[in-house]
Amino acid sequence: MIVYLNGDYLPSEKALIPVEERASNFGDGIYEVASFAGGRFFAFDEHMDRLRYSAREIQLKLPEDPAVYAKVAERLWGENNLGDYGTVYIQVTRGAAPRMHAFPANGTRPTVYLTTKPGKYVPDEDRAQGRPAITHPDLRWGRCDIKSLNLLPNVLAKQAAAEAGAQDCILVRDGIAIEGASSNFFAVLGGTLVTHPRGPHILGGITRQHVLRLAEAMGIPVREEPIPVEAVWKADELFFCGTTTEVMPITKIDGKIAGGGRRGPIADKLQTALHKEMWGK
Ligand code: PDD
Repeated sequence: MIVYLNGDYLPSEKALIPVEERASNFGDGIYEVASFAGGRFFAFDEHMDRLRYSAREIQLKLPEDPAVYAKVAERLWGENNLGDYGTVYIQVTRGAAPRMHAFPANGTRPTVYLTTKPGKYVPDEDRAQGRPAITHPDLRWGRCDIKSLNLLPNVLAKQAAAEAGAQDCILVRDGIAIEGASSNFFAVLGGTLVTHPRGPHILGGITRQHVLRLAEAMGIPVREEPIPVEAVWKADELFFCGTTTEVMPITKIDGKIAGGGRRGPIADKLQTALHKEMWGK
């Protein structure tokens, strides 16, 4: 697999990062994941806008305008011959420097790397079956709106989900169902589509924005407000959404049937519309 590292295109085994890299010492960096579907990257500009936002919020000066990564991603996709579906990861760190928590000396070059990953597209008949989820305490920090490379709480939550045979976790903070460990979370409550409002406790998901816009265009009532865990059990429909998740129904939580135990009509319509936009057909 060919990857991009600081301006070079290299076989992944030749793309080496120094041990003093701040991403590995401190998780001091940010990232984005965009999907490739039907010949192009989906919503790439929106991902680059969020990369700019994350960079600004951690005071990381990007070494170039991230708009240039569109061409890098396309070149990698072609050189790696990856077919019609998968993802690209864009990671930017504060660079390699002698270990010290505070920012390194001016002039330390951020490390930029892009990697591509072919994916297996989930057929809609399979997606319609939904996936089980578990509830898990949200152990993350107070700036989940930044797409930071610090993913240890997400790793632990995802491992707990994997061990339970679940797709993802509903992360719970102070009795509120916040989001998934790598996705946003939606509930249909009394005919209204509800999701946690944007703010420091969730990632402002790009798929989440598309889903809200599509729902409004369909005339589905939408509310952005906190969802108490008890309300989750009363929901007509539940789903996760994200770049790789799309609209994935949740049909069981902690081993018990939830969200009606099937994909509901709202999740069905939203997935159909999102799929159309992603694939352009
Ligand atoms: N995850 N919330 C969290 C914590 C996430 O990590 C993600 C994305 C989302 C959904 O955001 P978007 O729709 O912009 O992908 C919500 C990516 C896919 C990942 O880390 O692999």
